[in-house]
Amino acid sequence: MIKPFLNLGLQPLANEYQKSPKKLSIKKGQLYNLKVCFNTNTKLVSISKRIPSEKMFNSKYPYRSSMSLTMKASFKNLSQIIKKRFNPNLLLEIGSNDGALIKNFNKDNVIGVEPCKNLAQITKKNNFLTYDDYWNLNLASKIKKKFKFVDVIYSANTLTHISDLNDVFKSICLLLSDDGVLIIEDPSLLECVKKNSYDQFYNEHIYLFSAIAVNYLLNKFNLEIFDLENLPTHGGSLRYYIKRKKNKNFKVTNRVNIQIKKEIFYELHKFKTYKKFSNNVSKSKKKLIQILNKIKKNNKSIIGYGATAKAVTVLNYCNINKDLISNFTDTTPEKINNYIPGRNIKILKYNKNILKNYDYVFLGAWNFSKEIIKKEKKFIKKGLKFISHVPFPKFIN
Ligand code: TMP
Repeated sequence: MIKPFLNLGLQPLANEYQKSPKKLSIKKGQLYNLKVCFNTNTKLVSISKRIPSEKMFNSKYPYRSSMSLTMKASFKNLSQIIKKRFNPNLLLEIGSNDGALIKNFNKDNVIGVEPCKNLAQITKKNNFLTYDDYWNLNLASKIKKKFKFVDVIYSANTLTHISDLNDVFKSICLLLSDDGVLIIEDPSLLECVKKNSYDQFYNEHIYLFSAIAVNYLLNKFNLEIFDLENLPTHGGSLRYYIKRKKNKNFKVTNRVNIQIKKEIFYELHKFKTYKKFSNNVSKSKKKLIQILNKIKKNNKSIIGYGATAKAVTVLNYCNINKDLISNFTDTTPEKINNYIPGRNIKILKYNKNILKNYDYVFLGAWNFSKEIIKKEKKFIKKGLKFISHVPFPKFIN
């Protein structure tokens, strides 16, 4: 049974930054009601409304993996792990974005799949074979005709964006060699529950995986997790190493059991956990509004740092407008001089001195807090204060 547990209200499409301030409408499909559900059979957490992929992932997609040092380092580190541990002849990445991972490989050994044409263009220009198409059985069959099998399939923060998970895994099984390895990484449901980071939910994040739910899903395809890593990226992610059950080249490590036991300890398999989470989210909203209102009452200025999709969820859920947070700043060219969807807060181009004009910073990119706080140390020393809503709204330094 699919049971809703969280209502994040009317939300715009998270990555649809506006060229000019605009009142969005439900009728025109610019706003939708963001509700989050738990499937009591499969233990899968998902949002209820599905936006067509073409509306979300097209030639205007603004998110670039290479925009943060943290992500670049994470992909470089992973490429070394993959080469050392699996030494693939051929690696395929589903959702290769701007090439942050594949550029660490030899061009002859990698295939990128990226439906956002603006991003696929970047890797194509650098002579990496890139299919600018959606991951599905059609595309997998096309690739199979040319390459037969792939040794390693990798996908970060992409499979959870695809509604039809059966098609996703069928397509993977078609291409993966018998002793091949599938590596996927996505935000961790356990970390989200522990950190009360409800901003993991937006239209692109159709699912939020737990190891429990992934295990259940893989079983249908005779696949299994044989290793796991906890990662700090995206506010806490899990990297799953997956193989065919019949492949005896790899033993299932203890890390898999430890993670599943931890998730059971936190009762991720029970609906009541999500009801509690939902209560905490309401409390978080109240507290954040209270903090921002108090700052504004004292005539102090607030800027948002990192115009993330996550921030779009928070601002729209908490009804935060430009009277509270006057501007955002971001380094992504596609976001600069645009407006936060649904909130009409302008995104200013980042420069080293931008924070000097503000008293407080709301951390939209809280998942990069270490990197950002290190970078902005001189302003913090002069009295600038950062606010994060994770795990509960407070000042940080
Ligand atoms: P993400 O949380 O969805 O990965 O997005 C991070 C956003 O934050 C992205 O738009 C880039 C932006 N950002 C900055 O503007 N400055 C920074 O120092 C970092 C780390 C990120």
